[in-house]
Amino acid sequence: MLIRPRRNRKSAAIREMVEETTLTTKDFIFPLFLLEGTNKKVEVDSMPGIYRFTLDLMLKEIEECLNMGIKAFDVFPVVDEKYKDKMATKSADPNFFYIKALKEIKSKFPEACIMTDVAMDPYSSDGHDGIVDENGNILNDETLDVLADMALAQAETGIDIIGPSDMMDGRVEYIRDALDENGFENTSIMSYCAKYASAFYGPFRDALDSAPKSGDKKTYQMNPANKHEAMIEAELDAQEGADFLMVKPALAYLDVIHLLKENNELPIAAYNVSGEYSLIKAAAEKGWLDGEATMMESLLSIKRAGADVILSYFAKEAAQILRF
Ligand code: PBG
Repeated sequence: MLIRPRRNRKSAAIREMVEETTLTTKDFIFPLFLLEGTNKKVEVDSMPGIYRFTLDLMLKEIEECLNMGIKAFDVFPVVDEKYKDKMATKSADPNFFYIKALKEIKSKFPEACIMTDVAMDPYSSDGHDGIVDENGNILNDETLDVLADMALAQAETGIDIIGPSDMMDGRVEYIRDALDENGFENTSIMSYCAKYASAFYGPFRDALDSAPKSGDKKTYQMNPANKHEAMIEAELDAQEGADFLMVKPALAYLDVIHLLKENNELPIAAYNVSGEYSLIKAAAEKGWLDGEATMMESLLSIKRAGADVILSYFAKEAAQILRF
């Protein structure tokens, strides 16, 4: 036998020397859920270990994470039902607690990279990412104005990256134009580019109480059966001025991450979504899986598939293990 691949696996020293993929804390963006008010920290039932924080406690959480080497955060608002309406009006209100909180987070931690989410669902009484007409259709072009206003309100707080997660056609260019016309040409856009209509978002919708009130998201989010269609979305978003292209979810879509990485020059992000977190947590709680090892293997696999950036609820836990 001339070739024995096991020789390169015979000791930890050699295994590490020939390791092709290295995960680091710098790869992560940590999603955080913001509550209105003060001094509240509420665990998400379906996501053990993940909390919704009021601003005061979120600032502490961010500081702790920064000290562990996590430099990027994606902040989502938990919006009370009383603030929701058909047009997601609160999403562009400079006095709304989320917008005010973003400003405070950014001024307290100017070195942190703060990302925000652009889609109507947390603020919409319909629970959809776009405007819903009387027949239940999601209106594409009319929604673009709402998204642009939302993006502008967020950009004015000084945040670093806008994350359109709505999947309306043409929204990257529309938002890019609005930002540029208002002097925010340095605000980045990470487009949720290949975002699938996935059952893995369930726990996130619990965390935000943002599930659609009727219907589903299949007329705007992608069909899980399709891979090549992701190339159309990627090409459009790149042409429209996106700075990063995201694939979401991550683990069930590693082939899509790989495909986009191989065919684009832009950095590729992957969103290791709520359901992917909860699966591992639940199995670990039952003692069916080694939670820590499964977490690290999953994150490594997302990077190996081609992700340059990983949004993950595991960021803090993994950072503890990686130590930078
Ligand atoms: C909102 C949005 C969703 C997620 C991120 N932004 C939910 C959805 O599209 O229904 C999901 C994140 C997760 O599951 O962790 N448009």
